[in-house]
Amino acid sequence: MSWAVLLGLLAALLLLLLLSRRRARRPGEPPLDLGSIPWLGYALEFGKDAASFLTRMKEKHGDIFTVLVGGRHVTVLLDPHSYETVVWEPRSKLDFHAYAVFLMERIFDVQLPHYNPSDEKAKMKPTLLHRDLQALTEAMYTNLCTVLLGDTTEAGSGWQEMGLLDFSYSFMLRAGYLTLYGVEALPRTPESQAQDRIHSADVFHTFRQLDLLLPKLARGSLSVGDKDQVCKVKGHLWKLLSPARLAPRAHRSSWLDSYLQHLEEMGASEEMQARALVLQLWATQGNMGPAAFWLLLFLLKNPEALAAVRGELEQILLQAEQPVSQMTTLPQKVLDSMPVLDSVLSETLRLTAAPFITREVMVDLALPMADGREFTLRRGDRLLLFPFLSPQKDPEVYTDPEVFQYDRFLNPDGTEKKDFYKDGKRLKNYSVPWGAGHNQCLGRAYATSSIKQFVFLVLTRCDLELTSPDAEIPEFDLSRAPPRGCRQGLRSVSALLQNETSQCSRALKPRQPHPETSSLTTTGRKGREGVSCSLQGQPCVTPGRHPTWGRLLPPVGPTHRGLVMPHLLILQMEKQALRAEVSYPKSLILVIFFMNRVFREEPWLSCLAVLIKSSIFI
Ligand code: HEM
Repeated sequence: MSWAVLLGLLAALLLLLLLSRRRARRPGEPPLDLGSIPWLGYALEFGKDAASFLTRMKEKHGDIFTVLVGGRHVTVLLDPHSYETVVWEPRSKLDFHAYAVFLMERIFDVQLPHYNPSDEKAKMKPTLLHRDLQALTEAMYTNLCTVLLGDTTEAGSGWQEMGLLDFSYSFMLRAGYLTLYGVEALPRTPESQAQDRIHSADVFHTFRQLDLLLPKLARGSLSVGDKDQVCKVKGHLWKLLSPARLAPRAHRSSWLDSYLQHLEEMGASEEMQARALVLQLWATQGNMGPAAFWLLLFLLKNPEALAAVRGELEQILLQAEQPVSQMTTLPQKVLDSMPVLDSVLSETLRLTAAPFITREVMVDLALPMADGREFTLRRGDRLLLFPFLSPQKDPEVYTDPEVFQYDRFLNPDGTEKKDFYKDGKRLKNYSVPWGAGHNQCLGRAYATSSIKQFVFLVLTRCDLELTSPDAEIPEFDLSRAPPRGCRQGLRSVSALLQNETSQCSRALKPRQPHPETSSLTTTGRKGREGVSCSLQGQPCVTPGRHPTWGRLLPPVGPTHRGLVMPHLLILQMEKQALRAEVSYPKSLILVIFFMNRVFREEPWLSCLAVLIKSSIFI
């Protein structure tokens, strides 16, 4: 018997030992479900369709249970009344940042010496609040005008057709990038603004190529071609966002200056700083565009909602001191008095934001539930909240939870509705798109005003209609989506690009302005410029052809795929990472290696190896 066979046998034995080690439930712990596959547990089901898996587990075990997912024990909490305790636990007990560090290293190649997430958070927080927030909001308005109105004006006064996702994502990200990372020159000139448009379009298109490959990157399943592409795109982004390239930019945000200073204080090299800035571009901009896409789509598909929002905006325009074309900003007090648009945004996020709120359990911990029960959490496990199932899609909390109701978050007197109930008790966290507690999204206020400004500009300065207004929002494609009723928030990304590019070649004739939108243009749009825009719910711009929007490819008729898209990429990534990070012991990887080599001829063993490997990298 050769040494290789011996080693192989040894490895197989080790594997069996590892696989057969089963954990037992201790008194006081939540129901434990290890699944039927040793060690893997529910990794495959969880990875394939987390939302329906969790729904099934909830029916079986109730609103708290522990499942085995690829060697990790994950305690899932689905009682929204009990979220409050978890989100306010100190980091020494339930840690949020381990995941962020993982993301930094694995996906964005960022390794920072002496990195302390709490320190970083303390430094960055003030730059997104109060006076700095006001500066960001004002800059965002100007930059939205530069890219949105500049592009559409440059492209001529007729109708243009382009995909709604690309429209929303690109304009939001380009304006967001200029806002945080600075503009070409101050004071702005037509030339510098044209340069801002070209440069921000380059950033967006390069970013988007990476964005589409991120899920595969997170699960380590890039093909050789993908890897080359990722290297190329990252390299380009690192150059675009290098500190040297950013140094001469004007009107940089205090967020950027503080972040760069923080990186320098940590001793990060120039190259590492550029990488960190790419990570931040993704973290700050990856969710706003998709959120704006869903909001516009819901409006365009719900005439009553669109009319209500337009009515609200027209009131604002009537009270404004200057015509909309001369407005250089939307004052915060105006942004704060848009209850209808606020309700539309909350409803959009309720239906589409599906964050996994995960925390590492740092010490053995007692978790008191709102109903008086108490469970023990074990150190080293992971705690997972999934507010998308409850409260966001919970029929006890929301009637017809699948239906978009634009005024769901409005009281009859027009004020914000905040009272939602479950089990007869008022819920504190009745929708959790921004997270909650200690780690609630720091960019929430900036993101909210940016999305509102974008909607304001689109609806007041452009005519807008779907090219196929009668087409239903299609069923989602099950091969890439979470289950029925839960799909919007958990999309896969890469297939969409293929779909975008493959279907963009079908031609449609340009259309005339829609009677409804034409008539609306007459009221409340003082000094409106001749910009009109026909949009459809379908991405259809081929990357690389973008710079001026002048050469848009013909749009595509709606299909199932066009409307399904990654909503919140941070959250999408969280899902991927949860699986990818499931730490496989190095010994197991070695075992697989030997199994591959030695038992290549044994079909059952190779199958097992393939199964294990694929679950590692799903
Ligand atoms: C629609 C847009 C956005 C959504 C839906 C969103 C959502 C979230 C969620 C769910 C979390 C995690 C909360 C947790 O696990 O407890 C988070 C964290 C965070 N978000 Fe956002 N976010 C958005 C935009 C932004 C923007 C524009 C910025 C910054 C400019 C930002 C900065 C942050 C930061 C810094 C954290 C980490 C907070 C911490 O470390 O405690 N977000 N966000």
